[in-house]
Amino acid sequence: MRTISARAHAKVNLHLGVGDLREDGYHDLTTVFQSLSLSDTVTLEIGPDRDLVVEGSIVSGLSATGLDAASVPTDDSNLAWRAVDKLVEYYRTHHGLAESRSVHIQIHKGIPTAGGMAGGSADAAAALVAAHAFLSETHPAVPMSVLVDIAAELGSDVPFTLRGGTMLGRGRGELLTPLLSRGTYHWVLVFFREGLSTPRVFAELDTLREQGTSLGWSMETDDLAKALLSGEARQVAAHLHNDLEAPVRQLRRDVDRMREAGLEAGALRAVVSGSGPTVAFLCESELHARDVLDDLLADGAYSGTVAHGPAKGAHLLT
Ligand code: C5P
Repeated sequence: MRTISARAHAKVNLHLGVGDLREDGYHDLTTVFQSLSLSDTVTLEIGPDRDLVVEGSIVSGLSATGLDAASVPTDDSNLAWRAVDKLVEYYRTHHGLAESRSVHIQIHKGIPTAGGMAGGSADAAAALVAAHAFLSETHPAVPMSVLVDIAAELGSDVPFTLRGGTMLGRGRGELLTPLLSRGTYHWVLVFFREGLSTPRVFAELDTLREQGTSLGWSMETDDLAKALLSGEARQVAAHLHNDLEAPVRQLRRDVDRMREAGLEAGALRAVVSGSGPTVAFLCESELHARDVLDDLLADGAYSGTVAHGPAKGAHLLT
């Protein structure tokens, strides 16, 4: 059996400023993404010649292994499945794709599910890259801009996980501008057994704001951008910020305890990753990060890992 594999990386939001709720149900964001070494791998297992699909989904099934694999949807609600379907539709409409062999999607998870690290989005981005490699064997390649447009239809974080690096995100997070960043940043990531639903966290922020809790809109990222140019972890640490942290702490009281423990263990700064509950601790070096992680996981109550960034965008594995 022939396979095509692609890898996509997790993200942490160095800054996440959340504006008002829009009419389409999304919030305007000003965010700075950094991709991390933590990754998922998506493999397309290509079906036999006799299994030619002329309409509908070419995906025959989906299976998952690795971290939190039991909570990964294995039907067409999975973003990776939808990513393949969307690209096939594009090829049918624009490049006359008439028939295709079926594919089985195999996902190996290294990124926690519902952890605020764009795990589902990374799977979609990797699936797009793998499906593009498959379809462009027999039909023209499509420009990156087309893949990014399809990615944005799949979810707000999918364009970033496709492109990777360090980027400013606006709109609902899908309008991206690359940012210059020097050096490598070392993180400790602490995972929680139970994830959080992204819509629920945004809704909790709206509720807190309606109740008059003084929660502002932090749309200023110039100081963070300057800190990223310095390559100094301490300077970047001073500008980490997440407007979703208040609702996450409201929904998950144990996040506060974990933050405190990490700071006591010597981390430079803690920030909730995206819509949480993963807590990311920025450290001075890889060695420093390993020390902090050992301290935090000593009692066996949590799991976690060290990671570094920025990492690259979704890419084929050869
Ligand atoms: O785009 P995505 O499907 O990942 O978004 C999931 C949910 O998160 C949305 O339905 C919305 O409730 C919330 N969201 C938001 N504003 C954003 C991004 C996501 O309110 N900018």
